[in-house]
Amino acid sequence: MSDATSEWVRKPSAAGEGTACTLEEYEAMYARSLDDSDGFWAEQAERIDWIEKPSNIADWSYDPVDIKWFADGKLNICHNAVDRHVEAGHGNRTALIFEPDDPDGATRHITYAELRREVSRMANTLLKMGVAKGDRVTIYMPMVPEGAYAMLACARIGAIHSVIFGGFSPDAIAGRVEDCKSDWIVTADEGLRGSKTIPLKANVDAALEKVPAKAVLVLRHTGGNVAMKDGRDHWYHELSADVPDECPCEPMGAEDPLFILYTSGSTGKPKGVLHTTGGYAVWTETTFRYVFDYREGEIYWCTADIGWVTGHSYIVYGPLLNGATALMFEGVPNYPDHDRFWAVCDKHKVNIFYTAPTAIRALMREGDAHVTKHDLSSIRLLGSVGEPINPEAWRWYHDTVGKGSVPIIDTWWQTETGGTMITTLPGAHDMKPGSAGKPFFGICPQLVDNDGGVLEGAASGNLCITRSWPGQARTVYGDHERFVQTYFSTYKGKYFTGDGCRRDEDGYYWITGRVDDVINVSGHRMGTAEVESALVLHEKVSEAAVVGYPHDIKGQGIYCYVTLKVGEEPSDDLAAELRAWVRKEIGPIATPDHLHFTPALPKTRSGKIMRRILRKIAENDYGALGDTSTLADPSVVDALIEGRQNR
Ligand code: WTA
Repeated sequence: MSDATSEWVRKPSAAGEGTACTLEEYEAMYARSLDDSDGFWAEQAERIDWIEKPSNIADWSYDPVDIKWFADGKLNICHNAVDRHVEAGHGNRTALIFEPDDPDGATRHITYAELRREVSRMANTLLKMGVAKGDRVTIYMPMVPEGAYAMLACARIGAIHSVIFGGFSPDAIAGRVEDCKSDWIVTADEGLRGSKTIPLKANVDAALEKVPAKAVLVLRHTGGNVAMKDGRDHWYHELSADVPDECPCEPMGAEDPLFILYTSGSTGKPKGVLHTTGGYAVWTETTFRYVFDYREGEIYWCTADIGWVTGHSYIVYGPLLNGATALMFEGVPNYPDHDRFWAVCDKHKVNIFYTAPTAIRALMREGDAHVTKHDLSSIRLLGSVGEPINPEAWRWYHDTVGKGSVPIIDTWWQTETGGTMITTLPGAHDMKPGSAGKPFFGICPQLVDNDGGVLEGAASGNLCITRSWPGQARTVYGDHERFVQTYFSTYKGKYFTGDGCRRDEDGYYWITGRVDDVINVSGHRMGTAEVESALVLHEKVSEAAVVGYPHDIKGQGIYCYVTLKVGEEPSDDLAAELRAWVRKEIGPIATPDHLHFTPALPKTRSGKIMRRILRKIAENDYGALGDTSTLADPSVVDALIEGRQNR
């Protein structure tokens, strides 16, 4: 084991020039954000245009759980992300750059003035369809500017958006539409990724056979053939043909809901995490400003999809609230070749590049030539998000992509946190490959042992946050009790993140991964329980237990133990059928990597599946199975090990 303190990578000296924050400034601001939290956040909130300025800044409790920020303020976040910049004379500045899937396709540059017109037209179209303030609008779109327009249009008229990642199946869409009772859907004919089409409209049609919706607005994107249901489905270009270019922004209370985003937990179906308007605006504006150290005129590119929180906070809201120029990429890293990311960076002279470790690992494997054949001298900051980055991938990102002279920010955060919580700041901190770094302003991380005992100094434990921050999720939509149970009951009075973490002697935080039954596959968060429920829905499956296991590229792979009903025999065909079944039930991102048929699962005498043992076997780590004496039938373990070794 190498000593963590010898792992320092010093920030380049140029990183301190003209940055928003030096080490001294960080330390002073961090101290003030805790000592005078209200004063600090009132000051950050001044960069937002308020219709009514808030006087009540923080107003929260973790026991009982009731979280409010800027509660008596009124604002519209779309006005702040769009109109405000036009009114300040920046209408000609580029807001979004669109890079299509096809490298020979048409790039689009959308100015802030155009963005205002497009978002207003989309907002007027939603109003014409019948959408009202407070209604939930489901957005199931490809990575095209219209996806961002739809989100901002909802915010403009006070509707609550619920974006669903384009890789989810009809069943997953139906579940989410039903959970938040969304009458309205915005989608496109088809999506396009790596030259393959994704049948978005057909998926919506299949979902709406299970749940009703009043209307579907369809963007013509690929021009592919889709069925349109009379009276329910509307082409966007037709319905919007006669709407005005202007649409007023609805005044919203700071605590009015802005969006719902479904995410996986350790149990049950995905939760609709709810974010509200004022705190989220201040949090994404402030984190984007300091973490990415954005400078006017720069081109910023986050490779996430708007279907995930990273796309919400750091493609749409954070950058646009800062008047930045954000690139939206429709495609994938390996189409038409493994150099696409670097070709796009070169083509658009990207200054700030933000991606996930899984992409870095996959591209690293393809060799340096894909990187070195492009001019990447415009890049001055690299970012990582979504899962722990292994030091080897970090080094390659730093040395080969960043030519050893560009700082890396490794930003730890979650759907529930709304924005970055732990990261180094480019002009303030030296880095350690594999460590996220230091807490952002206002964030109080705490490590606790399994009994809730607080660990001080250098230690490893479960990561909690002891004080609220403006961008924190307020509830689970329609189920506040589930919110309380999931996040605030394990360690009473604290927000429990579900992550394990080590703090070293320099106060740097190292996220070690989930300690619950959530797995992180290619940076996509998934509940093992969701995959299990999908498997047991199959008529031949009796029981299923799903665990994560280390995977070179994906970070974690999906390992499924399956017992079959009496009379059914395991076979390669059945394995293929079950894989296809899970894809259909949840979506391609949930495709099992390993299917392990077994006559029985290891259970305690009270019938509880011993997942710890299943995890170890999946990891091929048989020496550390621990105590198996509480098993009802210890011989099950030997059979499982044999089954694993025969694979
Ligand atoms: C993991 C994505 C290590 C973590 C923004 C967290 C990370 C989960 C990092 C949230 C990071 C995210 N280092 N782990 N820099 N960023 N994670 O909700 O386990 O999709 O709990 O939000 O991803 O995933 P989510």
